[in-house]
Amino acid sequence: QVKSREVEALMNKHLPKRTTAILHDLGRTGDQLDLTVYAVGGFVRDLLLDIQNMDIDVTVDGDGILFAETFAAQFGCRVKSHQKFGTAVIVFPDGFKIDVASTRLEYYVSPGALPTVERSSLKMDLYRRDFTVNTLAIALNGESFGRLIDYFGAYRDLQSRVIRVLHNLSFVEDPTRVFRAIRFEQRLNFKIAKHTEDLIKNAVKMEFLEKLGGRRLLSELVQILREKEPLKGIGRMASLGLLRFIHPSIELTPAMQGALDETRYVVSWFDLLYLERPYERWSVYFLTLCEGLSEEQFLGTCTRLAVAEHYKERLVEMRKEGERLIAALERKVAGSEKVENSEIYFTLRGLPVEVLLYHMAKSRSAEVKRCISLYFTKLDGMHPQIRGEDLKELGVAPGPLYRELLDLVLSARLNGKAASREDEIRLVREVLGGV
Ligand code: CTP
Repeated sequence: QVKSREVEALMNKHLPKRTTAILHDLGRTGDQLDLTVYAVGGFVRDLLLDIQNMDIDVTVDGDGILFAETFAAQFGCRVKSHQKFGTAVIVFPDGFKIDVASTRLEYYVSPGALPTVERSSLKMDLYRRDFTVNTLAIALNGESFGRLIDYFGAYRDLQSRVIRVLHNLSFVEDPTRVFRAIRFEQRLNFKIAKHTEDLIKNAVKMEFLEKLGGRRLLSELVQILREKEPLKGIGRMASLGLLRFIHPSIELTPAMQGALDETRYVVSWFDLLYLERPYERWSVYFLTLCEGLSEEQFLGTCTRLAVAEHYKERLVEMRKEGERLIAALERKVAGSEKVENSEIYFTLRGLPVEVLLYHMAKSRSAEVKRCISLYFTKLDGMHPQIRGEDLKELGVAPGPLYRELLDLVLSARLNGKAASREDEIRLVREVLGGV
């Protein structure tokens, strides 16, 4: 069994000083109110595994909202509370947040067992959770600070690196746990216990997952695809027969595996460029998984999964537009004529990063891959040196011609035909002279 001292040592070693101080402060507020306070769940799991996790979840044996409000008043924080659930979020002035929950005090074994009520209610609270590894708690109150509470053999499972449910109905109660099991297994490099895996297979066979709404399914899928190594999670989803919940025709064939490997390669390459172009990494994998779907099927899938309306429109439209533009580029590079940089730029410029990366992975033409790569690494950041004001000085009346002239100048620049501001001005003069 882990000693309080050892937990404190882990805290001192792995947590920022301020976090440990906050944990002590939480315990002190608990002492003042005579409430028992625990850090619980993923935070404790990750602390023991030496993984950085700043999401502190606190459970209070009693009125969690009163606790949060008292703490906030003492430390200059704000509180957002949900009376209905007995939960609150403590928000520090710098935005740091702590989630506070209340254990259900109505849980009494018998009046005679009153002293054990608080312990029991924490136990009940933890028993409702998904996997043993998420059921650890650390006491935060003064004397007992750092005491590890392990009702369900979580520490043993952490050590043997096993994902295990607490009871047989876990996946029936909440089918999203099937995906959570996969996510934790892959992320932590654990193994889903044999019996737990059988329960998953059973839940799939008994069609419990059909009850899951599209929105929840998408949320779980997105989380798997956002993990560092999404391919492992996809592989596990495939072996458990879960890919069909995205679309019945999706299978992990050797061709799909190849496409996913290539996607991973392209995504890693892109991330290493450290370009300041935010994008949704999960969508690139999602597009690859859906590459065999027709436009209609893809739209249907996005609708069923409740992809946010504006994002869905963009994804569906751009996927289609991307097919068209990339096919045109493929035809062009296959022909003998040289493709100018400006052509690459103006072809690709309207497409989102997600769609470009998807096509970079998908295209069989090395030359098309090179074009997209060049677009990201060089072309996309290029601008004309002259601006609207320069055109005004040259006597051009403001209007649509501005855009055309600036694009023209940009083309010259992209193709290496205008290296300086003077070159650009000369070019504009030439064009205007010829008008
Ligand atoms: N939980 C659960 N069943 C779910 C979702 C969550 O039992 N379907 C429980 C888990 O035990 C988890 C806690 O609620 O520890 C908080 O959920 P969440 O923040 O999603 O889990 P973390 O373990 O913090 O996961 P992550 O590290 O991915 O944030």
